[in-house]
Amino acid sequence: MKEKTTVLTPVQMAFLVHQRVARLATTSESGEPHAIPVCFAFDGHLIHIALDEKPKNVSPTRLKRVRNILANPNVVVITDRYSEDWKLLAYVMVRGRAGLVEPASPEHTLAIRLLRGKYHQYEQMKIEENPVISIHPEQVASWGALDALGSSRSLMDILLGRRSVRRYLARDVPEEAIEKVLEAARWAPSPHGRQPWRFAVLTRKETKTHLAEAMGEEWQANLDMDGQSAEVVEKRLEGSRKRLLDAPVLVLLCVYLEDLDVYPDAARQQSEIMMAIQSLGAAAQNALLAAYSLGLDAGWVCSPLFCPEKVTEALGLDLSLIPHALLTLGYAEGDPPKRRARKPIDELVIYRD
Ligand SMILES: Cc1cc2nc3c(=O)[nH]c(=O)nc-3n(C[C@H](O)[C@H](O)[C@H](O)COP(=O)(O)O)c2cc1C
Repeated sequence: MKEKTTVLTPVQMAFLVHQRVARLATTSESGEPHAIPVCFAFDGHLIHIALDEKPKNVSPTRLKRVRNILANPNVVVITDRYSEDWKLLAYVMVRGRAGLVEPASPEHTLAIRLLRGKYHQYEQMKIEENPVISIHPEQVASWGALDALGSSRSLMDILLGRRSVRRYLARDVPEEAIEKVLEAARWAPSPHGRQPWRFAVLTRKETKTHLAEAMGEEWQANLDMDGQSAEVVEKRLEGSRKRLLDAPVLVLLCVYLEDLDVYPDAARQQSEIMMAIQSLGAAAQNALLAAYSLGLDAGWVCSPLFCPEKVTEALGLDLSLIPHALLTLGYAEGDPPKRRARKPIDELVIYRD
């Protein structure tokens, strides 16, 4: 159960990137210890911590943790999971060397993007004006049920914490976790309770390759049609192919219309189909949230929507299954960059009393 390594193992990484808070311990020149809770992002190699305090007339380098790091760069970052169910207890402790990364460098820009992607609250704060503490892990110790399938977080924390992941660790997903994700999907609301969706699970490399190649042909034709250069077409095709092959699990979401109500007029029939598609979205979101709450990560790939027949044929599916989207499932290789900020709520909501 207890493990000591010099670099983070995939299991330790997956645990780390799912934690929202860590404790950073530093020591002063005279050896006086200091520990504080911190928000952090992990880029797959380094742990980044923002300096968000903006004390007037006081440089961030006067902060105790920063002064300590400048005097002694050896630090500890510890993240843990507590639950009244002690079978879920776990921690990862990283010993490393910390340094300050100054604003405007590429490393600083990346760290700020990761931190804002993980914590939307940072979007409103001028963290880009301060240096970032970046920690290079040198020794890692962990204990407990790091990969337990469970979460003690509130639903709201899971909703706000979930993020689309596009790069995964080469680590298998336990079957039990896949089953739980599908279980969550099947409890989605649906029109007349008809559950107008079916899910195809792909884990074998050969199957994923076959699917990626079939979809690639269609994509190539579309990109050529858009007048993209051969070089761009090649690069984008390779990127999308890699994305499908590197994800440990793909779940193909299909609409299934056979059990829907039948109407004599086309307009109502169209609405019935739209409801089925809305319901597929609800099933997808259930799956994404379940995955995140189980300590997994997931992403959404829309390409099957553009070539459903190719997908059905490549996977030998029944013609009644209409492919709409793929969910990728696995363990994130780090906190994902490029997360879109949300619009302010008053731009999205209209009240009519
Ligand atoms: C219908 C739909 C289709 C999407 N298609 C893709 C896709 O093909 N590729 C992709 O990388 N992300 C896709 N996404 C994910 C969005 O880009 C992502 O949800 C959005 O940028 C917000 O980021 P977040 O999920 O991390 O909050 C899709 C999402 C939805 C709902």
